[in-house]
Amino acid sequence: MSEKNKKLEALKNEIEADRLLPLQESNIVFGEGNCDSDIIFIGEAPGFEEDRQKRPFVGRSGQLLNQMLGDIGMSRDEVYITNIVKRRPTNNRDPLPEEIQAYKPYLAKQLDIIRPLIVITLGRFAMNYFLPDAKITRDQGVLFRKNNFFVIPMFHPAAALRSQTEVMGRFKETFRKLPVMIKKCKQYQGVKDK
Ligand code: URA
Repeated sequence: MSEKNKKLEALKNEIEADRLLPLQESNIVFGEGNCDSDIIFIGEAPGFEEDRQKRPFVGRSGQLLNQMLGDIGMSRDEVYITNIVKRRPTNNRDPLPEEIQAYKPYLAKQLDIIRPLIVITLGRFAMNYFLPDAKITRDQGVLFRKNNFFVIPMFHPAAALRSQTEVMGRFKETFRKLPVMIKKCKQYQGVKDK
């Protein structure tokens, strides 16, 4: 097991041991994928299927994410995928501000271990963690620089699935621009394509 993986495992255990965290009745969905990737996708919180499988984005939103990654010639094993809130809010409701607040330090630690170059946020909750003043309809698809990261906010795949028209169109359009945006970030940072 690599050093990074050991640190991530230790962080997961730390979350498990923190009995003050909200949503204790649900399973921990910590995150998965390639922790050496330059790219991390961050959603809001697990849903029913994610809680059941203890894996992020494995329900309908995850299927759309996989399909879109496939369309741009990428697979989910190449990237890392996680959420801000690591347990499922009851009945799949939006996470509450205090839930986001409680889990935030753990996302910060996770990012500190993984050190990705590009953060792709899915939905407004993850976007606002990095860009508190951003608005999803205005700012999705825009490339931002925030501290050590490039941040690309995107609509949440669930929002795209719900709308089927405008949001889905814009979600797909941004997804198809990702390879060019990723290349630009790597060039800027002097990172060689693997
Ligand atoms: N929605 C999210 O935000 N995260 C998941 O893991 C699944 C659905």
